[in-house]
Amino acid sequence: MNKDKLIVANWKMNFLYNNASIFCKKISSKRKSIKNKFIICPPTALISKLSLRFNKITFGAQDCHYEKFGAFTGDNSAAMLKNINCKYIITGHSERRKFYNENNVILKKKIKSIINANLVPIFCIGEDISVKRKGNTKKHLLNQLINVLPKNNKKKIVIAYEPIWAIGSGKTPKIEEIEEINLYIKSVIRKINTNYKNTKILYGGSVNKENSKIFLNNNNVNGLLVGGSSLDFNTFYSILSYKIL
Ligand code: PGA
Repeated sequence: MNKDKLIVANWKMNFLYNNASIFCKKISSKRKSIKNKFIICPPTALISKLSLRFNKITFGAQDCHYEKFGAFTGDNSAAMLKNINCKYIITGHSERRKFYNENNVILKKKIKSIINANLVPIFCIGEDISVKRKGNTKKHLLNQLINVLPKNNKKKIVIAYEPIWAIGSGKTPKIEEIEEINLYIKSVIRKINTNYKNTKILYGGSVNKENSKIFLNNNNVNGLLVGGSSLDFNTFYSILSYKIL
């Protein structure tokens, strides 16, 4: 069961190359004791140098443009990220939705472009606190899923459930709540496309050394998307090396 969990480090806009490579060097030296499959998503500027040097680590990107090429100053396409050895691309993160106004229409195109580039999208969904308080979480997630996920896709995708109010706040839902939501997401995506029946549903938002054990021990949490706790090597390593009972 252990091997089935996927742990994704979302470094966001942190680290210069030196510190990032020290981190990757430490992880590489501990690879044998790491119990869970993991992916590191550094800032785009660092990926190519890191992936050349640490070719045993799986890297992902934090975002991409939906077009392959063109006049989109500052952007990178999925094909370009594949070209620098990315295997996964996070998309729909709440920070992208908030700061760059990314909506379902844009995200649908992004997911399509990631799949077409033969990379795996890690599609983030989640409700803000007002949606939660009104009891509309499931409705909100349903909308994010049905309007974005491709119906005829046969390739792998990953979903990350990240309640916006839990990101960087130190607060998390109870494990029972996460489990209920993950089961709900599973039932929705299976209806969208039967090929999604084995899709991994990760949890993200204030994951730390302690709560990660509770989350990873739950059969319906298939992994974690880790922000702040992925920036400290010892913390991230202890999450990665946790052995499920
Ligand atoms: P956090 O971030 O772990 O720092 O809450 C998670 C995320 O934004 O993916």
